Amino acid sequence: MNKHISVLEKLFNKNCQLIDGTDEIFELDLALWEYENLSKEDLMARSAYFKLIYGKETIHYKMCNLQNLEEVHRESSFRTKIFFLNGKYSTGYATHGLFPYRGKFHPQLIRAILNILNIKRGSVVLDPMAGSSTVTVEANLLGIDAISVDVSPFCQLIGKVKTFSLNLDIDILENISKNSKQILTKLNRAKVPKYFNKEEDSKKAYYEVLLLAFLDAVGFSGRTSSSLDELFPRVLKRYITTIKYFQYAREKLNLKIGKSRILQGSVTDLPLKDNSVDSIITSPPYSFAIDYLKNDKPQLEYLDANLNSLRSQMIGLQGRGIEEKLRIYFDSMQKSLYEMNRVLKNNSSLVIVIGSNDIQTKGIRLETKIIEFAKNAGFNFSYNLIKSIRGMQNSMKKENVLFFTKKD
Ligand SMILES: C[S@@+](CC[C@H](N)C(=O)[O-])C[C@H]1O[C@@H](n2cnc3c(N)ncnc32)[C@H](O)[C@@H]1O
Repeated sequence: MNKHISVLEKLFNKNCQLIDGTDEIFELDLALWEYENLSKEDLMARSAYFKLIYGKETIHYKMCNLQNLEEVHRESSFRTKIFFLNGKYSTGYATHGLFPYRGKFHPQLIRAILNILNIKRGSVVLDPMAGSSTVTVEANLLGIDAISVDVSPFCQLIGKVKTFSLNLDIDILENISKNSKQILTKLNRAKVPKYFNKEEDSKKAYYEVLLLAFLDAVGFSGRTSSSLDELFPRVLKRYITTIKYFQYAREKLNLKIGKSRILQGSVTDLPLKDNSVDSIITSPPYSFAIDYLKNDKPQLEYLDANLNSLRSQMIGLQGRGIEEKLRIYFDSMQKSLYEMNRVLKNNSSLVIVIGSNDIQTKGIRLETKIIEFAKNAGFNFSYNLIKSIRGMQNSMKKENVLFFTKKD
């Protein structure tokens, strides 16, 4: 038998090792892209898929290990615990685990994309359909400034908490969280923003952490038989432990966190100037696969959001019957691409992650449509990276990571 050389040995120096769990082809592709694109120092400081670079542990690997997810999820259900431990290097680190938003990006994928696009400190990255602000958190972790825009006020709250928690004073947070029973009574009784009094107002961002934990518990109690009294203290404790361990990791590794702006607005009419951002990474609703309004209804109602007005602005939620729904969806996506082109600087990159569920779209591939709309809006299409989706329950098996550049 001939001596066999493994794929990994062929691709990487033998002293450069991939992070545990990097076993899908698209991940290998991204790791190779990072390896070819980044200097040795940058691979150490910011790569997403490497455990060792020339024998030394990378910052990403160290950061994830310092976060002690076993401790954070000591009181979580077995399923939740396994989910987060399995995603230790891909989804569960930093503040990404604070609210498990449906349809959220894999943070590790976003980190790799930021590396591939060569986005450096001093640049501004935008996600105009930000959801839980995965892009902004990931950019901030690399010291890059970022802007999130989402039409949902609940997404705005999630984004504010996840980014604020990257760089807060843990003593203040622990102090105001001491009496969870009293907090629960207050939050249960009054709606935001009436909840904040003068003294609390100066620490508003800290109280928003408690508020998100409360709304997380509200959602949780709606899906299980457990009461809010039982769930809130547990969820709050998980939030505080998560943030505490991340703060520990941040200090130990001397991470410089970038700035963030978390805005409420629509991708079809962005509250931003022409040619003002250096890169866009985003993921629109996949036609009408998820009803974000229905999903987040208890939280949006608590926040006093106008659900009818939101429904009329949310992409994918308008129209009746598949044909009309699709027509309106495509119309909004074309508008969104023109708007993304307007705010992006010339020659800069746009990355769109999208999957297609053929049954819902009558066989029309969303990625084909997005490429067509992006070209109409003034982008050059450069690459489609196919990403598999794990999980037996998913009828969608693949997502497309589409890379574009804005024409001069
Ligand atoms: C696929 S999710 C994004 C998830 C996100 N990538 C994350 O990591 O959490 C799509 C998001 O688009 C938002 N959205 C829908 N219509 C919008 C609009 N007109 N303007 C801005 N955001 C919108 C939804 O609220 C939802 O959060």
